[in-house]
Amino acid sequence: MPGEPQRTFYLETFGCQMNVHDSEKVIGTLMSQGYRQVSTVEDADLILYNTCSIRDKAEQKVFHRLADYKKLQAQGKKFGVLGCVAQQEGEKIFERAPHVSMVCGSASYRNLPKMLVQIEAGKQRVTGLDDRKTDECFETEFTARTNPHRGYITIIEGCDKFCAYCVVPFTRGKERSRTSDSVLAEARQMADLGYTEVQLLGQNVNSYKDPAGKKSFAELLAAVAETPGIKRVRFTTSHPRDFGRDIVEAIESVPTLCDHVHLPVQSGSTRVLHAMQRLYNREQYLERIAWMKSAKREISITTDVIVGFPGETEADFEETLSLLDEVGYDGIFAFKYSPRPNTPALHLADPISDQEKSRRLAVLQDKQKQIQMHRNQRHVGQTVEVMVEGKNELRGQWVGRSSQNKVLNFTVQPGGPYPAIGGYARVRTTTSFPNSLLGEMVV
Ligand code: 5AD
Ligand code: SF4
Repeated sequence: MPGEPQRTFYLETFGCQMNVHDSEKVIGTLMSQGYRQVSTVEDADLILYNTCSIRDKAEQKVFHRLADYKKLQAQGKKFGVLGCVAQQEGEKIFERAPHVSMVCGSASYRNLPKMLVQIEAGKQRVTGLDDRKTDECFETEFTARTNPHRGYITIIEGCDKFCAYCVVPFTRGKERSRTSDSVLAEARQMADLGYTEVQLLGQNVNSYKDPAGKKSFAELLAAVAETPGIKRVRFTTSHPRDFGRDIVEAIESVPTLCDHVHLPVQSGSTRVLHAMQRLYNREQYLERIAWMKSAKREISITTDVIVGFPGETEADFEETLSLLDEVGYDGIFAFKYSPRPNTPALHLADPISDQEKSRRLAVLQDKQKQIQMHRNQRHVGQTVEVMVEGKNELRGQWVGRSSQNKVLNFTVQPGGPYPAIGGYARVRTTTSFPNSLLGEMVV
Protein backbone atom coordinates (compact mmCIF):
# COMPACT_ATOMS: atom_id res chain seq x y z
CA MET A 1 0.00 0.00 0.00
CA PRO A 2 1.47 3.36 -0.89
CA GLY A 3 2.39 5.45 2.17
CA GLU A 4 1.17 8.95 2.81
CA PRO A 5 2.68 11.43 0.35
CA GLN A 6 5.70 13.12 1.89
CA ARG A 7 5.08 16.66 3.12
CA THR A 8 7.25 19.27 1.46
CA PHE A 9 8.68 22.63 2.50
CA TYR A 10 10.33 25.58 0.84
CA LEU A 11 12.66 27.78 2.87
CA GLU A 12 14.11 31.16 1.89
CA THR A 13 16.73 32.79 4.08
CA PHE A 14 17.44 36.50 4.48
CA GLY A 15 20.23 38.17 6.40
CA CYS A 16 23.45 37.19 8.10
CA GLN A 17 25.50 34.00 8.38
CA MET A 18 23.79 33.20 11.69
CA ASN A 19 20.52 33.01 9.81
CA VAL A 20 22.05 30.94 7.02
CA HIS A 21 23.32 28.46 9.58
CA ASP A 22 20.06 28.49 11.56
CA SER A 23 18.33 27.56 8.30
CA GLU A 24 20.65 24.57 7.92
CA LYS A 25 19.53 23.44 11.37
CA VAL A 26 15.85 24.13 10.59
CA ILE A 27 16.14 22.13 7.36
CA GLY A 28 17.74 19.21 9.22
CA THR A 29 15.04 19.36 11.89
CA LEU A 30 12.22 19.38 9.34
CA MET A 31 13.79 16.49 7.43
CA SER A 32 14.02 14.51 10.67
CA GLN A 33 10.25 15.04 10.96
CA GLY A 34 9.65 13.48 7.54
CA TYR A 35 9.53 16.68 5.47
CA ARG A 36 11.29 17.01 2.13
CA GLN A 37 12.83 20.29 0.95
CA VAL A 38 11.77 21.59 -2.47
CA SER A 39 13.17 24.47 -4.46
CA THR A 40 9.97 26.29 -5.49
CA VAL A 41 7.02 27.64 -3.50
CA GLU A 42 4.69 25.98 -6.01
CA ASP A 43 5.94 22.51 -5.02
CA ALA A 44 5.76 23.14 -1.27
CA ASP A 45 3.05 22.39 1.30
CA LEU A 46 4.79 24.65 3.82
CA ILE A 47 6.47 27.94 2.84
CA LEU A 48 8.97 29.31 5.36
CA TYR A 49 10.90 32.56 5.51
CA ASN A 50 13.86 32.92 7.85
CA THR A 51 13.94 36.67 8.26
CA CYS A 52 16.28 39.53 9.13
CA SER A 53 15.38 42.81 10.82
CA ILE A 54 18.77 44.48 11.11
CA ARG A 55 17.63 47.32 8.83
CA ASP A 56 14.16 48.35 7.70
CA LYS A 57 14.80 47.31 4.08
CA ALA A 58 15.57 43.74 5.15
CA GLU A 59 12.43 43.62 7.26
CA GLN A 60 10.20 44.81 4.42
CA LYS A 61 11.43 42.04 2.13
CA VAL A 62 9.53 39.34 4.00
CA PHE A 63 6.26 41.27 3.89
CA HIS A 64 6.70 41.71 0.12
CA ARG A 65 7.29 37.97 -0.26
CA LEU A 66 4.27 37.13 1.85
CA ALA A 67 2.10 39.47 -0.26
CA ASP A 68 3.47 38.00 -3.50
CA TYR A 69 2.45 34.45 -2.59
CA LYS A 70 -0.71 35.10 -0.61
CA LYS A 71 -2.84 33.64 -3.38
CA LEU A 72 -1.25 30.21 -2.84
CA GLN A 73 -3.12 29.93 0.45
CA ALA A 74 -6.18 28.95 -1.62
CA GLN A 75 -4.29 25.78 -2.59
CA GLY A 76 -3.97 24.81 1.07
CA LYS A 77 -0.36 25.90 1.45
CA LYS A 78 0.76 27.08 4.89
CA PHE A 79 3.13 29.96 5.63
CA GLY A 80 5.61 30.37 8.46
CA VAL A 81 7.80 33.32 9.48
CA LEU A 82 11.00 32.45 11.35
CA GLY A 83 13.96 34.46 12.65
CA CYS A 84 14.41 38.06 13.67
CA VAL A 85 11.26 39.64 12.20
CA ALA A 86 9.24 36.83 13.82
CA GLN A 87 10.77 37.53 17.21
CA GLN A 88 10.49 41.30 16.83
CA GLU A 89 6.95 41.56 15.48
CA GLY A 90 5.47 38.45 17.14
CA GLU A 91 1.74 37.98 16.77
CA LYS A 92 1.41 41.31 14.94
CA ILE A 93 2.52 39.33 11.86
CA PHE A 94 -0.80 37.44 11.89
CA GLU A 95 -2.63 40.77 11.61
CA ARG A 96 -0.48 42.12 8.83
CA ALA A 97 -0.41 38.82 6.90
CA PRO A 98 -3.40 36.71 8.04
CA HIS A 99 -2.38 33.80 5.79
CA VAL A 100 0.63 33.11 8.07
CA SER A 101 0.08 30.20 10.47
CA MET A 102 3.43 30.02 12.24
CA VAL A 103 5.65 32.69 13.81
CA CYS A 104 8.82 31.44 15.47
CA GLY A 105 11.94 33.25 16.77
CA SER A 106 15.38 31.66 16.73
CA ALA A 107 15.40 30.83 20.45
CA SER A 108 12.33 28.59 19.93
CA TYR A 109 13.49 26.46 17.01
CA ARG A 110 13.84 23.42 19.24
CA ASN A 111 10.01 23.52 19.50
CA LEU A 112 9.58 23.33 15.71
CA PRO A 113 8.67 19.61 15.65
CA LYS A 114 5.82 20.25 18.14
CA MET A 115 4.71 23.30 16.21
CA LEU A 116 4.62 21.36 12.94
CA VAL A 117 2.34 18.75 14.51
CA GLN A 118 -0.05 21.50 15.60
CA ILE A 119 -0.11 23.03 12.12
CA GLU A 120 -0.77 19.65 10.54
CA ALA A 121 -3.62 19.15 12.99
CA GLY A 122 -5.17 22.29 11.51
CA LYS A 123 -4.27 24.85 14.18
CA GLN A 124 -4.54 28.29 12.59
CA ARG A 125 -1.92 30.22 14.54
CA VAL A 126 1.11 28.67 16.17
CA THR A 127 3.77 30.78 17.90
CA GLY A 128 7.23 30.17 19.32
CA LEU A 129 8.43 33.41 20.87
CA ASP A 130 10.93 33.87 23.63
CA ASP A 131 11.85 36.83 25.74
CA ARG A 132 15.46 37.74 26.55
CA LYS A 133 15.48 35.45 29.55
CA THR A 134 15.98 32.31 27.50
CA ASP A 135 18.98 30.10 28.13
CA GLU A 136 18.24 27.89 25.16
CA CYS A 137 20.75 27.27 22.39
CA PHE A 138 19.60 25.63 19.21
CA GLU A 139 21.92 22.68 19.13
CA THR A 140 20.67 19.86 16.97
CA GLU A 141 22.11 16.66 15.60
CA PHE A 142 20.14 17.25 12.38
CA THR A 143 22.08 20.15 10.80
CA ALA A 144 21.74 19.83 7.00
CA ARG A 145 24.84 21.67 5.78
CA THR A 146 24.58 22.83 2.19
CA ASN A 147 28.31 22.90 1.40
CA PRO A 148 30.24 19.64 1.86
CA HIS A 149 33.64 21.32 2.30
CA ARG A 150 33.21 24.30 4.59
CA GLY A 151 30.64 24.81 7.29
CA TYR A 152 29.54 26.92 10.23
CA ILE A 153 29.63 26.09 13.92
CA THR A 154 27.71 28.30 16.36
CA ILE A 155 29.76 28.99 19.49
CA ILE A 156 27.69 31.78 21.07
CA GLU A 157 24.18 33.07 20.51
CA GLY A 158 22.58 36.42 21.38
CA CYS A 159 24.15 39.72 22.38
CA ASP A 160 24.40 41.67 25.63
CA LYS A 161 26.04 44.80 24.22
CA PHE A 162 22.95 46.89 23.38
CA CYS A 163 24.57 49.23 20.88
CA ALA A 164 22.13 52.13 20.54
CA TYR A 165 21.12 51.35 16.93
CA CYS A 166 20.95 47.56 17.07
CA VAL A 167 17.94 45.30 17.21
CA VAL A 168 19.91 42.08 17.72
CA PRO A 169 19.80 41.98 21.55
CA PHE A 170 16.00 42.05 21.25
CA THR A 171 15.66 39.50 18.44
CA ARG A 172 18.32 37.02 19.48
CA GLY A 173 18.18 37.39 23.23
CA LYS A 174 20.92 37.33 25.82
CA GLU A 175 24.38 35.89 25.29
CA ARG A 176 24.76 32.17 25.83
CA SER A 177 27.88 30.19 24.93
CA ARG A 178 28.21 26.50 24.13
CA THR A 179 30.75 24.44 26.03
CA SER A 180 34.13 24.13 24.33
CA ASP A 181 33.73 20.33 24.50
CA SER A 182 30.56 20.50 22.45
CA VAL A 183 32.13 22.89 19.91
CA LEU A 184 35.21 20.68 19.56
CA ALA A 185 33.07 17.54 19.19
CA GLU A 186 31.20 19.20 16.31
CA ALA A 187 34.51 20.24 14.70
CA ARG A 188 35.80 16.64 14.92
CA GLN A 189 32.54 15.32 13.51
CA MET A 190 32.80 17.74 10.57
CA ALA A 191 36.43 16.77 9.96
CA ASP A 192 35.37 13.08 9.91
CA LEU A 193 32.78 13.95 7.26
CA GLY A 194 35.49 15.54 5.10
CA TYR A 195 35.05 19.22 5.94
CA THR A 196 38.32 21.14 5.88
CA GLU A 197 37.09 24.67 6.66
CA VAL A 198 35.15 25.72 9.72
CA GLN A 199 33.71 29.13 10.48
CA LEU A 200 32.91 29.82 14.12
CA LEU A 201 29.81 31.96 14.43
CA GLY A 202 28.31 34.32 16.94
CA GLN A 203 27.02 37.87 17.14
CA ASN A 204 30.01 38.53 19.35
CA VAL A 205 32.33 35.53 19.10
CA ASN A 206 34.98 37.06 21.31
CA SER A 207 32.56 37.51 24.21
CA TYR A 208 32.63 33.70 24.33
CA LYS A 209 32.61 32.28 27.85
CA ASP A 210 32.96 28.51 28.13
CA PRO A 211 30.17 27.44 30.52
CA ALA A 212 32.51 24.66 31.68
CA GLY A 213 35.28 27.21 32.29
CA LYS A 214 37.83 25.19 30.30
CA LYS A 215 38.83 27.48 27.44
CA SER A 216 39.04 31.17 26.60
CA PHE A 217 37.92 32.24 23.12
CA ALA A 218 41.54 32.37 21.87
CA GLU A 219 42.19 28.88 23.29
CA LEU A 220 39.03 27.57 21.65
CA LEU A 221 40.13 29.07 18.32
CA ALA A 222 43.48 27.33 18.58
CA ALA A 223 41.92 24.02 19.64
CA VAL A 224 39.44 23.99 16.75
CA ALA A 225 42.25 24.93 14.35
CA GLU A 226 44.34 22.02 15.64
CA THR A 227 41.57 19.48 14.95
CA PRO A 228 43.10 16.85 12.63
CA GLY A 229 41.75 17.31 9.10
CA ILE A 230 40.74 20.96 9.56
CA LYS A 231 42.84 23.21 7.34
CA ARG A 232 41.15 26.56 7.88
CA VAL A 233 39.31 28.22 10.74
CA ARG A 234 37.53 31.56 10.47
CA PHE A 235 35.48 33.42 13.05
CA THR A 236 32.92 36.19 12.89
CA THR A 237 31.90 38.68 14.25
CA SER A 238 34.27 40.21 16.80
CA HIS A 239 33.50 43.19 19.01
CA PRO A 240 36.44 45.60 19.51
CA ARG A 241 35.74 45.93 23.23
CA ASP A 242 36.39 42.22 23.88
CA PHE A 243 39.11 41.81 21.25
CA GLY A 244 42.14 40.67 23.23
CA ARG A 245 45.77 40.44 22.18
CA ASP A 246 45.59 36.68 22.76
CA ILE A 247 43.47 36.37 19.59
CA VAL A 248 46.28 37.95 17.55
CA GLU A 249 48.81 35.66 19.27
CA ALA A 250 46.69 32.61 18.38
CA ILE A 251 46.62 33.70 14.71
CA GLU A 252 50.40 34.22 14.82
CA SER A 253 51.11 30.77 16.17
CA VAL A 254 48.48 28.53 14.56
CA PRO A 255 48.81 28.52 10.74
CA THR A 256 45.37 26.94 10.21
CA LEU A 257 43.74 29.99 11.82
CA CYS A 258 42.96 32.26 8.88
CA ASP A 259 44.82 35.56 8.71
CA HIS A 260 41.69 37.65 8.46
CA VAL A 261 39.80 39.54 11.17
CA HIS A 262 36.45 41.25 10.72
CA LEU A 263 36.37 43.99 13.36
CA PRO A 264 33.33 46.29 12.97
CA VAL A 265 34.20 49.88 13.87
CA GLN A 266 30.86 51.55 12.94
CA SER A 267 32.33 55.08 13.15
CA GLY A 268 35.72 56.78 13.28
CA SER A 269 34.47 59.50 15.62
CA THR A 270 34.80 58.98 19.37
CA ARG A 271 31.81 61.26 19.89
CA VAL A 272 29.59 59.12 17.65
CA LEU A 273 30.99 55.88 19.11
CA HIS A 274 29.94 57.15 22.51
CA ALA A 275 26.44 58.00 21.27
CA MET A 276 26.27 54.53 19.71
CA GLN A 277 27.19 53.02 23.10
CA ARG A 278 29.98 51.05 21.46
CA LEU A 279 32.11 50.90 24.65
CA TYR A 280 35.39 51.93 22.98
CA ASN A 281 36.84 55.08 21.45
CA ARG A 282 38.82 55.69 18.29
CA GLU A 283 42.18 55.32 20.08
CA GLN A 284 41.24 52.01 21.70
CA TYR A 285 40.04 50.68 18.36
CA LEU A 286 43.29 51.76 16.70
CA GLU A 287 45.26 50.08 19.46
CA ARG A 288 43.70 46.74 18.47
CA ILE A 289 44.50 47.46 14.84
CA ALA A 290 48.12 48.13 15.86
CA TRP A 291 48.31 44.69 17.55
CA MET A 292 47.23 43.08 14.29
CA LYS A 293 49.60 45.17 12.19
CA SER A 294 52.56 44.18 14.30
CA ALA A 295 51.73 40.44 14.05
CA LYS A 296 54.26 38.07 12.52
CA ARG A 297 51.74 37.08 9.81
CA GLU A 298 50.07 39.80 7.75
CA ILE A 299 46.44 39.92 8.92
CA SER A 300 43.78 41.18 6.57
CA ILE A 301 41.29 43.46 8.31
CA THR A 302 37.70 44.22 7.30
CA THR A 303 34.95 46.21 9.02
CA ASP A 304 31.35 47.44 9.15
CA VAL A 305 30.48 51.14 9.09
CA ILE A 306 27.22 52.98 9.69
CA VAL A 307 26.83 56.46 8.17
CA GLY A 308 24.28 59.03 9.26
CA PHE A 309 23.81 57.91 12.86
CA PRO A 310 21.66 60.58 14.59
CA GLY A 311 23.83 63.60 15.30
CA GLU A 312 26.72 62.57 13.03
CA THR A 313 28.19 65.86 11.80
CA GLU A 314 30.23 66.39 8.67
CA ALA A 315 33.31 66.55 10.95
CA ASP A 316 32.40 63.16 12.52
CA PHE A 317 31.97 61.68 9.07
CA GLU A 318 35.38 63.04 8.04
CA GLU A 319 36.83 61.15 11.00
CA THR A 320 35.38 57.92 9.64
CA LEU A 321 36.96 58.70 6.27
CA SER A 322 40.34 59.36 7.87
CA LEU A 323 40.05 56.12 9.85
CA LEU A 324 39.68 54.18 6.59
CA ASP A 325 42.99 55.68 5.45
CA GLU A 326 44.66 55.06 8.77
CA VAL A 327 43.66 51.39 9.02
CA GLY A 328 43.81 50.42 5.35
CA TYR A 329 40.95 47.93 5.33
CA ASP A 330 40.81 45.16 2.78
CA GLY A 331 37.02 45.40 2.71
CA ILE A 332 34.12 47.20 4.35
CA PHE A 333 30.38 46.72 4.64
CA ALA A 334 28.81 50.17 4.88
CA PHE A 335 25.21 51.00 5.70
CA LYS A 336 22.97 54.01 6.09
CA TYR A 337 21.62 54.22 9.62
CA SER A 338 18.14 52.72 9.82
CA PRO A 339 16.00 53.37 12.94
CA ARG A 340 14.92 50.09 14.56
CA PRO A 341 12.14 49.25 17.01
CA ASN A 342 12.99 48.95 20.71
CA THR A 343 16.47 50.43 20.28
CA PRO A 344 17.66 53.42 22.37
CA ALA A 345 18.62 55.41 19.23
CA LEU A 346 15.01 55.34 18.07
CA HIS A 347 14.31 58.21 20.45
CA LEU A 348 17.19 60.38 19.25
CA ALA A 349 16.40 63.25 16.91
CA ASP A 350 17.48 62.18 13.43
CA PRO A 351 17.73 65.34 11.32
CA ILE A 352 20.08 63.88 8.69
CA SER A 353 18.12 63.48 5.47
CA ASP A 354 18.10 60.25 3.54
CA GLN A 355 19.70 62.10 0.65
CA GLU A 356 22.59 63.18 2.90
CA LYS A 357 23.00 59.64 4.26
CA SER A 358 23.16 58.37 0.67
CA ARG A 359 25.77 60.98 -0.17
CA ARG A 360 27.95 59.98 2.79
CA LEU A 361 27.58 56.32 1.89
CA ALA A 362 28.65 56.98 -1.70
CA VAL A 363 31.66 59.10 -0.60
CA LEU A 364 32.71 56.39 1.85
CA GLN A 365 32.37 53.58 -0.65
CA ASP A 366 34.25 55.54 -3.27
CA LYS A 367 37.11 56.18 -0.86
CA GLN A 368 37.23 52.51 0.13
CA LYS A 369 37.31 51.45 -3.52
CA GLN A 370 40.42 53.58 -4.03
CA ILE A 371 42.00 52.06 -0.93
CA GLN A 372 41.26 48.51 -2.09
CA MET A 373 42.49 49.23 -5.59
CA HIS A 374 45.78 50.35 -4.10
CA ARG A 375 46.03 47.68 -1.38
CA ASN A 376 45.22 44.72 -3.62
CA GLN A 377 48.24 45.55 -5.79
CA ARG A 378 50.47 44.17 -3.06
CA HIS A 379 49.30 40.64 -3.94
CA VAL A 380 50.50 40.79 -7.56
CA GLY A 381 53.37 38.33 -7.92
CA GLN A 382 52.49 36.50 -4.67
CA THR A 383 51.56 32.83 -4.64
CA VAL A 384 48.90 31.77 -2.13
CA GLU A 385 46.86 28.70 -1.38
CA VAL A 386 43.17 28.99 -2.18
CA MET A 387 40.22 26.80 -1.40
CA VAL A 388 38.57 26.13 -4.74
CA GLU A 389 34.92 27.20 -4.60
CA GLY A 390 33.70 26.78 -8.15
CA LYS A 391 34.23 27.27 -11.85
CA ASN A 392 33.02 30.06 -14.10
CA GLU A 393 32.43 28.07 -17.29
CA LEU A 394 31.75 31.19 -19.35
CA ARG A 395 35.15 32.70 -18.57
CA GLY A 396 36.97 29.38 -18.31
CA GLN A 397 38.18 30.40 -14.83
CA TRP A 398 38.10 28.78 -11.43
CA VAL A 399 37.19 30.73 -8.30
CA GLY A 400 39.01 30.31 -5.02
CA ARG A 401 39.41 32.07 -1.71
CA SER A 402 42.63 32.75 0.14
CA SER A 403 43.16 32.44 3.88
CA GLN A 404 42.88 36.27 3.94
CA ASN A 405 39.39 35.83 2.46
CA LYS A 406 40.36 37.33 -0.91
CA VAL A 407 38.52 36.07 -3.98
CA LEU A 408 40.93 34.80 -6.64
CA ASN A 409 39.75 34.00 -10.16
CA PHE A 410 42.33 31.82 -11.86
CA THR A 411 43.16 29.94 -14.99
CA VAL A 412 44.78 26.55 -15.36
CA GLN A 413 47.40 25.42 -17.90
CA PRO A 414 45.71 23.84 -20.96
CA GLY A 415 45.50 20.08 -20.38
CA GLY A 416 45.49 20.45 -16.61
CA PRO A 417 45.95 19.25 -13.96
CA TYR A 418 42.56 20.66 -12.96
CA PRO A 419 41.67 21.68 -9.43
CA ALA A 420 38.89 19.91 -7.54
CA ILE A 421 35.99 21.92 -6.11
CA GLY A 422 36.43 21.97 -2.34
CA GLY A 423 40.13 21.14 -2.73
CA TYR A 424 43.11 23.46 -2.43
CA ALA A 425 45.32 24.92 -5.16
CA ARG A 426 48.31 27.24 -5.27
CA VAL A 427 47.66 30.36 -7.31
CA ARG A 428 50.00 33.14 -8.40
CA THR A 429 48.30 36.53 -8.67
CA THR A 430 48.89 38.33 -11.96
CA THR A 431 46.37 41.21 -11.84
CA SER A 432 44.52 43.00 -9.05
CA PHE A 433 41.11 44.68 -8.97
CA PRO A 434 39.38 46.48 -6.10
CA ASN A 435 37.25 43.46 -5.19
CA SER A 436 39.13 40.45 -6.52
CA LEU A 437 42.40 39.12 -7.85
CA LEU A 438 43.23 37.32 -11.07
CA GLY A 439 45.89 34.66 -11.31
CA GLU A 440 47.08 31.32 -12.60
CA MET A 441 47.38 27.99 -10.89
CA VAL A 442 50.91 26.94 -10.03
CA VAL A 443 51.63 23.23 -10.31
N1 5AD B 1 21.17 50.64 10.79
C1 5AD B 1 22.18 50.44 9.91
N2 5AD B 1 23.09 49.48 10.03
C2 5AD B 1 23.01 48.67 11.10
N3 5AD B 1 23.77 47.63 11.50
C3 5AD B 1 23.26 47.15 12.65
N4 5AD B 1 22.17 47.85 13.01
C4 5AD B 1 22.00 48.80 12.06
C5 5AD B 1 21.05 49.85 11.88
N5 5AD B 1 20.05 50.05 12.75
C6 5AD B 1 24.98 47.22 10.80
C7 5AD B 1 26.21 47.32 11.68
C8 5AD B 1 26.50 45.88 12.01
C9 5AD B 1 26.04 45.19 10.75
C10 5AD B 1 25.78 43.74 10.89
O1 5AD B 1 24.85 45.87 10.42
O2 5AD B 1 27.26 47.88 10.92
O3 5AD B 1 27.86 45.63 12.28
FE1 SF4 C 1 24.25 44.67 17.57
FE2 SF4 C 1 26.21 45.86 18.93
FE3 SF4 C 1 25.42 43.37 19.62
FE4 SF4 C 1 26.74 43.78 17.31
S1 SF4 C 1 27.53 44.13 19.38
S2 SF4 C 1 24.90 42.52 17.59
S3 SF4 C 1 26.03 45.79 16.67
S4 SF4 C 1 24.20 45.22 19.76
